[in-house]
Amino acid sequence: MSILIKGGRVITAADDYIGDVYVEDERISLIGESLDIQAERTIDASGKYVLPGGVDPHTHLDMPFGGTVTIDDVESGQTSAAFGGTTTHVDFIIQPQGASFADALDEWRGKANGKQVIDMGYHMAVTDLKEGGTLEELATLPDQGITSYKLFMAYKGALMVDDETLFRTMQVAADTGALVMVHAENGDAIDVLVKEALAAGHTDPKYHALTRPPETEGEATNRAIQLARVAGSPLYVVHVSCAESVEPIQLAREKGWDVWGETCTQYFFIDYTFLERPNFEGGKYVYTPPPRDKANQDVLWNAVRTDKLSAISTDHCAFLWDGQKTIGRDDFSKIPNGGPGLETRLQMIHEFGVRGGRISLNRMVELLSTNPAKLFGLYPRKGTIAVGSDADIVVFDPDKRVTISASTHHSKSDYNLFEGTEVTGAPEVVLLRGNVLVEDGELVAQPGIGQFVARAKFGEELRPAATVA
Ligand code: URP
Ligand code: ZN
Ligand code: ZN
Repeated sequence: MSILIKGGRVITAADDYIGDVYVEDERISLIGESLDIQAERTIDASGKYVLPGGVDPHTHLDMPFGGTVTIDDVESGQTSAAFGGTTTHVDFIIQPQGASFADALDEWRGKANGKQVIDMGYHMAVTDLKEGGTLEELATLPDQGITSYKLFMAYKGALMVDDETLFRTMQVAADTGALVMVHAENGDAIDVLVKEALAAGHTDPKYHALTRPPETEGEATNRAIQLARVAGSPLYVVHVSCAESVEPIQLAREKGWDVWGETCTQYFFIDYTFLERPNFEGGKYVYTPPPRDKANQDVLWNAVRTDKLSAISTDHCAFLWDGQKTIGRDDFSKIPNGGPGLETRLQMIHEFGVRGGRISLNRMVELLSTNPAKLFGLYPRKGTIAVGSDADIVVFDPDKRVTISASTHHSKSDYNLFEGTEVTGAPEVVLLRGNVLVEDGELVAQPGIGQFVARAKFGEELRPAATVA
């Protein structure tokens, strides 16, 4: 199949020009001005932006968590992503306690088989190096295209690891070319604060934030940075929410250390007061780290503008409000942590980042696509519009007005974090490797079209042959 995307404003992290993009089979084979070439299909993109498909480096689909399982499986989560202009994501395999990494990988591949709507990779979340996987087995993952290890420094009694596990994993990463990712919060201190709050009869959702103060995020971020220095591994701090965590990342980057940070869409828009909403409405905003004081929102916009933070993910970890979040109606510590977001990242960042004058269009592409692709071994197959790259392309209508709502989104969640927000700008056509995924508000392709992508090691580039179906 060949497709000619004609006359659009092509925007990458570096470029911004009016041009034609010619797609043959799965890849972009020609870019030029007024291309004189026949194609089986022509898409008129005049007045539209032509963007590289979004790359979301942080999602949780079909994941057991907080006594339940996320409501979006691979099919519904990836469908939601496709409508939002995201064509690749990297999801977390959570190593079950006592399980080998091979078994964990098999289990997660089983969840995806036949359901994939977009392309995907996996990070391995290490939970247990004593009874389950070994360091030797962990070291084999990068050669299988799983080139990032994730460690939770919080969620005591569930996913949290001790510093020995964190540090040993960093040592393996330094040897194998993997990137270490951390959920940076001091889980021991939080556990004490949660117990104290419950003993004092504090059960409302707002105590989720009050028992996870920003200093606990700052402390863990600092600790992870220093341990990564000792181990010699690169470090990526996920879902940075506050100045206390931005500052050590900024400092490390100024020193030239291999440290990067991401924030997530929700931290720009949702503040602590949302947790105080009555009738358990606040439960919708229980995710971790928690919504912070509003002052942090400017800190985060400044951080993504100036490359203190290098990526914006969604941390999509969707639950139903009615039936899942409500598990914790009488005890904030039992509310499953997380929220939906895969579909709204591009629209929200375009509206309030670009149209709001906070970041440029190029920087938006860099934060939502190019940098995640580079950091996680997907570039230049993903994350840009260039000859030879996968034809993962979003034709984006910058004038289309949309009201974000759970009544129209494609996640199975029964609420949207940005309900009622009006934005101007929406994906019109979404291509995955030259296949039309979304058009005229419909999912055109069948589940099964998405592929697992074996990612390159940290700092290396991904060339086309590395796909595994
Ligand atoms: O609340 C959140 N973020 N849920 C997903 C798990 C995590 O910590 O990323
Ligand atoms: Zn986390
Ligand atoms: Zn997460």
